[in-house]
Amino acid sequence: MQTTNVMFQQDPADHVLEVGLKDLWYPVCPSSFVKDAPISLRRLGYKIVLWRDPGTGRVNALEDHCPHRGAPLSLGMVLGDRLACPYHGVEVRQDGVVTRVPGSPGCKLEGSKAARRFHVQEGAGAVFVYNATDPHLEAAPPLRLPEQLTSPEWSSFLCYTEWGCDYRYVVDNVIDPMHGAFLHKQSHSMAEGDISAEFQLRDTPTGFVFEKKGQRDVNFDWTEWMDTGIHVMRLEIPYPKTGGPGGNFSIIGSYTPITNRTSGVFHWRCRRVTGWQRDTWRFLYRNRLEQRHWDVLEQDRVAIENMEPDANRREHLYQHDMGIVRLRRHLKNLAKQQVEKAGAPA
Ligand code: FES
Ligand SMILES: [Fe+2]
Repeated sequence: MQTTNVMFQQDPADHVLEVGLKDLWYPVCPSSFVKDAPISLRRLGYKIVLWRDPGTGRVNALEDHCPHRGAPLSLGMVLGDRLACPYHGVEVRQDGVVTRVPGSPGCKLEGSKAARRFHVQEGAGAVFVYNATDPHLEAAPPLRLPEQLTSPEWSSFLCYTEWGCDYRYVVDNVIDPMHGAFLHKQSHSMAEGDISAEFQLRDTPTGFVFEKKGQRDVNFDWTEWMDTGIHVMRLEIPYPKTGGPGGNFSIIGSYTPITNRTSGVFHWRCRRVTGWQRDTWRFLYRNRLEQRHWDVLEQDRVAIENMEPDANRREHLYQHDMGIVRLRRHLKNLAKQQVEKAGAPA
């Protein structure tokens, strides 16, 4: 019997998008995940080892692949800013340089930049890594997070979860405010407002806002997409009076590919509160509101995880999907530029 092998070649720009655009910051895990012992996380098309230098408290990250023969460095030993591979003891520093080859001192591997390094920043309760094209990039650009996560005027909680879907479905979900009035109709904060709307796009210095015409502060009525060296989304949900001080509830989101079927989902729930109001809101959030928010998020998770992986290839989009179309096109263009820069045909 004759068989034929059919090779499917993925569009290179799609591959870039699938594993995450390069030269951007991404949140990879909550800070609490990284203690003194190394941990290994699959993110952005890599296995990444993260550990905290016990001397300085700084988090370091390398590709979890020993430059000698590829054993996971995460199974090794922490030596401050270095890891010693468990297999033959090769030592690799946080900047990717092999500092010691105990089995063959003085060999060529010693002193070479042989491991992929990741620049790391911690902030707002999360660890962020820079997904550089260059595995040995000397300095990463600063991490610029929105004011809701950095200003003392704001108070936030990080809610981290992992969903069983491509991260792009999570992004599509957030740039689609209309689902609030349907999927979240049974919720404490999204039962109000019209179930039909006309939308518009408005450019901002760092991206764009996708918003309902003529309805604001009633339901989930708009989403902002921002690129400040990290891709971040922002939206507001109006709160009933029982939600305590601080006005609308702001949500900052950022989404990181784990595999093509798993995503790291980061949502910071923020309010503009200081002093006693801050304490009140933090208490109220922990005791009353947090569970309700997880319930809402669960509605999203169930809907998205149960979409077939190729659902986005068989769609009939209409006016309220303009935000999705705009963002997909923009991300695809960024991916094409990266492919062209790397010298491969787009
Ligand atoms: S594989 Fe790491 S030291 Fe040999
Ligand atoms: Fe939602």
